[in-house]
Amino acid sequence: MANTSDWAAARAAVEACTACPLRETCRQTVFGVGSETAEVLFVGEGPGKTEDEEGVPFVGPAGKLLDELLAAIGLTREHVYIANIVKCRPPMNRDPKPEERAACMPHLKRQMELLAPKLVVCLGRIAAQELISPEFRVTQEHGFWNIRGSYEIMGTWHPAALLRNERNLPDAFEDFKVLQRRIRKVCKMTPSDPIALCAGRAKDT
Ligand code: URA
Repeated sequence: MANTSDWAAARAAVEACTACPLRETCRQTVFGVGSETAEVLFVGEGPGKTEDEEGVPFVGPAGKLLDELLAAIGLTREHVYIANIVKCRPPMNRDPKPEERAACMPHLKRQMELLAPKLVVCLGRIAAQELISPEFRVTQEHGFWNIRGSYEIMGTWHPAALLRNERNLPDAFEDFKVLQRRIRKVCKMTPSDPIALCAGRAKDT
């Protein structure tokens, strides 16, 4: 199992990275957040304005929706790990270019090695096209598991896209329920029951 110094080295490698020009225009790198022993990994596209300011993925409006979707299936961000394809904010929130994604991919690969997740969820087209298939179409292929050796991977809508177009929210919610069912089948430590989460909270007060 990976230890704390492996994670610290991976984070330091991201902080020191100059493999593409995005580091010149962003405020800080955004490594990832969550449990280093999580069984479930979420992968987004890249930091936006708030993430660039705070150095943490999915803390802006899209992050609030992600937190709500997680809560609906009994999870908090402490139960999972959240990272991005690129670790530096693209200027004006444009899509990261293919060469920027390729330059950053070794960092995500290292995170995946250290985490060894059982389930990976791609949030949006960019992550799904990098990690599942270059032709991936979210509207057609969301919610289906693809087997990849030691883990299974699926794509769903990016929370920011759901905020722009709420019509897809019910389907995205179904995808989170698909995830919940898969967690119950293949994960040993990840909760999947909203009632257990509430009970835990009541116990703490
Ligand atoms: N969008 C992403 O893809 N990642 C973030 O961290 C925030 C918004």
